[in-house]
This record gives sequence, C-alpha cells and structure tokens, in this order.
Amino acid sequence: MNGFSFPARLSDRHKGVTIVSWLTDNLRNQITTGRLIPGTVFPATRLLASELGISRSSVVQSYDQLVAEGYLSARQGSAFRVSELGLADYPEYLKPKKSFALNADGNQELLKLSLVPGQPDQRLFPARKWGMAVSRVARLSPDSLLYGEDPFGDPVLRNAIVEHLAEWRGVDVVSEQVLVSAGSADGLQLCIEMLGADPMMLGLENPGYIGLRRHAERLNLKMQWLSRDECGTVLPANGASQPNLVVLTPSNHYPLGGAMTLNRRLEYINWSRETGGWIIEDDYDSEYRFAGHPIPAMIGLDDQGRTIYLGTFSKTISTDLRLGFMVIPISLVNQFRKKITASRTSVIAQRPMGEFMRAGDYHRHIRRTRRHYAERRDALELRLNEMDDLTFATPHANTGMQVAVLLNRQQNDKLIVEKLKEQGIGAVPLSDFFVNEKSTSGLLIGYCAHTVEEIGDLMMKFQDCLRDSQ
Ligand SMILES: Cc1ncc(COP(=O)(O)O)c(C=O)c1O
Repeated sequence: MNGFSFPARLSDRHKGVTIVSWLTDNLRNQITTGRLIPGTVFPATRLLASELGISRSSVVQSYDQLVAEGYLSARQGSAFRVSELGLADYPEYLKPKKSFALNADGNQELLKLSLVPGQPDQRLFPARKWGMAVSRVARLSPDSLLYGEDPFGDPVLRNAIVEHLAEWRGVDVVSEQVLVSAGSADGLQLCIEMLGADPMMLGLENPGYIGLRRHAERLNLKMQWLSRDECGTVLPANGASQPNLVVLTPSNHYPLGGAMTLNRRLEYINWSRETGGWIIEDDYDSEYRFAGHPIPAMIGLDDQGRTIYLGTFSKTISTDLRLGFMVIPISLVNQFRKKITASRTSVIAQRPMGEFMRAGDYHRHIRRTRRHYAERRDALELRLNEMDDLTFATPHANTGMQVAVLLNRQQNDKLIVEKLKEQGIGAVPLSDFFVNEKSTSGLLIGYCAHTVEEIGDLMMKFQDCLRDSQ
C-alpha cells in the first residue's frame, strides 16, 4: 500500500461505536498527527476492506466522511489522497489578552498586559482546526448552529464530554447526566437555583472564588466560611447549622493552590451523607497539571451520588467563549429537566466544540498548551524564587494556571496592584479573596497568557513595584 500504513495498534472499538466511526477516527487521527502526510494515496476501498476484514461499504462511508470533513480529496476516477491542510496554527494577528481594571471613576479601563489569573494564551488557539470543525458543521448539519435539540445541550458535545471525563478525569458518567452551561459560574448559579432550600446556607471556601461570593451576597444567602488547612478545605463546623451546599475546588484550591487529600475528600462525602448537603466540585483548571498523574475528580469517589461536577472550556480555550458543562447526579436529572426549558448558552459553538473534541483536536490542544504552560510556570517560579520579598503560598503545587505568592513584609498588596496598573499591567491582590479573617497580603499571578520572555519583562516590572512600595 503505497505510502499508507496503519498505526501499530488500531484503537479498540468501544461498545456502541460503529465500524465506520471507528475506522474514520483511526484514519483521521493518522492524518492529524502527521503520520499520513498530504498527498498520501489511500488504498482502494476493496483492498482496505479485505485487509481489515470489514465490508467495503464501511470503508466507502468512512472515506466519504473524511472527504466531507476536508481531510481527503478525490477527483473523478482517481484515488483518494490526503488533502493539503493549509496554513500552520499560530495566528499572528492574535494578541496577548488585555485586562480590565476599574479606574478612579469606577469605570472599566483597558490595560495593555495582564497578570490576571486563569487567562489562557489565545495565540496558541488552533484557529485552523477550529475553522475546520465549524465549516464541517456548517456543511453537514447547519441546523445545529441555529436550533437546540435539547435544553441540556448539543448531543454530540455531551457525548464528547462523557468521553473526555472518562479519559482525563477518571469519571464514568452517561450523557443524560451532562448539561452544557455557559461556564462554571453559570453552573454554580444554576445549582444554587435548583438546590436552594429555605433557609439556604452555602459553605464557601475562604479564601475563595470572588465571583461566587459576590453572587451569593447579591442573593442575600447565608454563608459559612470554610478555611483551609494542610489537608485542604476544612469541614463545616460541627454542631453549628450545616450548609445545604458546599462549593469546593478539590483538585486545585482556589486561590491558594494544592489538592485536597483523599481522606478529606472522603470526609466530605460522609458529611454529605450524614447531613443531606450537596457538594459542588468546581474543577475549573485541572487539565493543567504539570507533574505526576492527574488527580481523579472527586465525583468519581462519591458512591452516594451527592456531588455535582462543574467543568469549563474557559481555561482551555477562552474565557469569552462562555461554554462549560456540569454533571448532575442521576437522582437530580428529572428535577433539572423539569425546570430547564432552553439551552443555557448559545448553540452556535456547541456542535463545533463537539466536533473539535471528537476529532481529537481538543486533547491535542490541551497537551500542546500544557507543554507551553509548564515551561512558562518554570520560568515564573525561577523569577519568583529570586525575589526575597516573597514566598509561595503552596510550594510545589504544580497545577493550575496561576501561582499565589505571599508578601513577606506584608506590604499592602492593593498598593502594589495600583503600581502595576500605572505600568499598564492588570493584576489581582490576594487579600481580595479573603473574607472576615486577617487577610494575607500577596498576589495571585496568572502566567499562561505570556511567553517566557514576556514573563521575564513582567517580573522585572513587578520587582520594581515591590521595591517602590517598601
Ligand atoms: C475557581 C473558579 N471557579 C469558577 C470560575 C468561573 O469560570 P467560567 O469562566 O467557566 O465561568 C472561575 C473563573 O475564574 C474560577 O476561578
């Protein structure tokens, strides 16, 4: 077979996957990973069918699908060949993301650079692959860009999320449990709405995610603050009235970093069984773990079905995409179904995202960004280590898109953020994440959106600001 070779091992065909999809996925994978280069001639359908012991019509359908997706081309009467895939990824026109800050009049001001946490580098976005996914959907299922088939979200995307969770988070769920949201913040708000009790009390991490705290304040909800010890977020106080819902970041505490121990996770699951409270697992950036094995999600440990899992594409793709997902325990699916009558987020990105994932491009993108971010994190930590005024809030955390540092001399972190702002750099003081207790002065530094060189420049400016404020 001229220039054409199969991988040493074809992927296993999982239950429920048709021969056509299995063959198409394997061939597509060969092309996107560069094992089959543009111009490679594909074997005649009859030959490949007999080679694989499958029907010729399966091979024909698979080739047709790859032609429709733009991976193969065929002229009348000639063989199928791998198409030219066009320009390299790395759209030069994309600039590092800017950040906003409130100016003295309380209006948003656009700053040139950002050390704001949780921002991916959109220059690494695989625009060409994304474009292919969008154009495939526009050609093959244009309806899905306009109409939502199901208020829980696009079925192709939900299936892709199920596979992603199994492969990356060790979580075994069915697509009926998956609801496509407008990001984790939307998922959190939906849980509060759906699981609200009277009276309602939320258990929130302190320090913790500011957006959620503000939302709970707006709703006038009672809150119990859950501080952190060396094992992770502490349990709600014994004896006191118990929260109906606790929101946790077990894979990577936000903002301090570090994973919750297995024992503490099991204690929380016991807590939910004993009190009837619900656990929300906010798994906002666990794709970015740079050492050791990925930490399985907490929902996988919960044999009580009392954990709701929240995931997001904000960190891996873009915060402005407003696309995320939640996994609802089977016992709650009907309750959610009764109340949700329309998709939570625009359908326009849902099917393309499902296609992007199905083609393997999402995982390739995560792996690629993870390599870049690991290098950037090393560069950042090296710089921070050289500064005597700082210590890491959680040394060797090795996960996540931001690093929390503490200011040894307890300089006013808000003042330092002001000084950075004067240099056109947006940043977030660590004290903002704390409530009601002696807050800790520091900075939560988002580093992913910058190259190693850019990080070097930014850290020099940061060091100047630290010196100026002594
Ligand atoms: C801990 C945490 N949870 C949730 C969110 C919200 O993410 P999304 O953009 O998916 O709404 C953020 C955003 O920064 C976050 O830091």
